[in-house]
Amino acid sequence: MGDMHTDSVAVMDGAGEPGAAAVAGAAGAAGAAGAAAVAGAAGAAASEARSATGATAGAAMRVERAAASDAGSATGAAAAGAHQLLKVEGINVYYGAIHAIKDVSFCVNDGEIVALIGANGAGKSTTLKTLSGLLRSSTGSIEFAGEDIMRVAADKLVARGLAHVPEGRRVFQQMSVEENLEMGAYTRPGSEVAPGLERVYAHFPRLKERRRQVAGTLSGGEQQMLAMGRALMSSPKLLMLDEPSMGLAPILIEQIFQIVQELHAAGTTILLVEQNAQMALSIASRAYVMETGRITLSGTGDELLHNDDVRRAYLGG
Ligand SMILES: Nc1ncnc2c1ncn2[C@@H]1O[C@H](COP(=O)(O)OP(=O)(O)OP(=O)(O)O)[C@@H](O)[C@H]1O
Ligand SMILES: [Mg+2]
Repeated sequence: MGDMHTDSVAVMDGAGEPGAAAVAGAAGAAGAAGAAAVAGAAGAAASEARSATGATAGAAMRVERAAASDAGSATGAAAAGAHQLLKVEGINVYYGAIHAIKDVSFCVNDGEIVALIGANGAGKSTTLKTLSGLLRSSTGSIEFAGEDIMRVAADKLVARGLAHVPEGRRVFQQMSVEENLEMGAYTRPGSEVAPGLERVYAHFPRLKERRRQVAGTLSGGEQQMLAMGRALMSSPKLLMLDEPSMGLAPILIEQIFQIVQELHAAGTTILLVEQNAQMALSIASRAYVMETGRITLSGTGDELLHNDDVRRAYLGG
């Protein structure tokens, strides 16, 4: 089943709900059905209370991680008492005859930043698309917040707290910054929109300055901020970012990584796909290396940063 096809299915699926219908309508205007599914899959604003407890839990978990003898493996993390937010076991994904994801297993614990690194074509984006329901695994299991989500539609996953900011930041080009953000909250009660906007603008003051600007005229870095902000509007439990630093100047890359750390400190658990391995590993609690569809290595961010194979392959020696 092709990518576009599953994207459209995700849109159709939610068309019965007023919010989702608005998304589908906007997609027509933007001329991109795929983008609608992603807006559906995007989502951000944890309540202040949740942020506060999340930050505390994050700190506690860092201590637990330090105590874990094998924080790299799923069992190691479980043994340390960490709560698994996402648990992926033995998934396989195909594009026709191409076997893109091969027996992949990994987990993300509450309060972590987990990085997924690897070369072009390794299967990182395919993994995220499978988690957000845009592609399906033929085997294994995917649990999110304690529930099996293998057969749950993409737009329903947003409502459950799984937000996906795709590669290439597909914002609604013809809508304003603020309209894009409002779309991100379509799974939330109307009363959450205004406080959600305030929280996003606190993380991204640049978006506040440009709230009335048409999204298509934003710079690449600003569009990345908007895509992240839109995802945050759905108050996600897990924020999945696909190559947020791609194509940005070094100063903007620094800024984006800074914001990722701020979101984490405010209580959001993050799954970060990056080709910028240096930056990703330096902020990650744990990380996995993917090569041609398989996970070949895992460990704490620090362990992988100092691993000889990783240094040679992804860190320029
Ligand atoms: N829609 C598709 N149809 C057929 N093959 C695809 C499709 N999308 C991805 N692939 C193939 O699946 C494999 C994994 O692709 P994927 O996009 O997941 O890699 P990636 O790790 O995200 O790479 P990059 O770092 O370049 O974004 C690649 O061999 C790619 O060519
Ligand atoms: Mg990719």
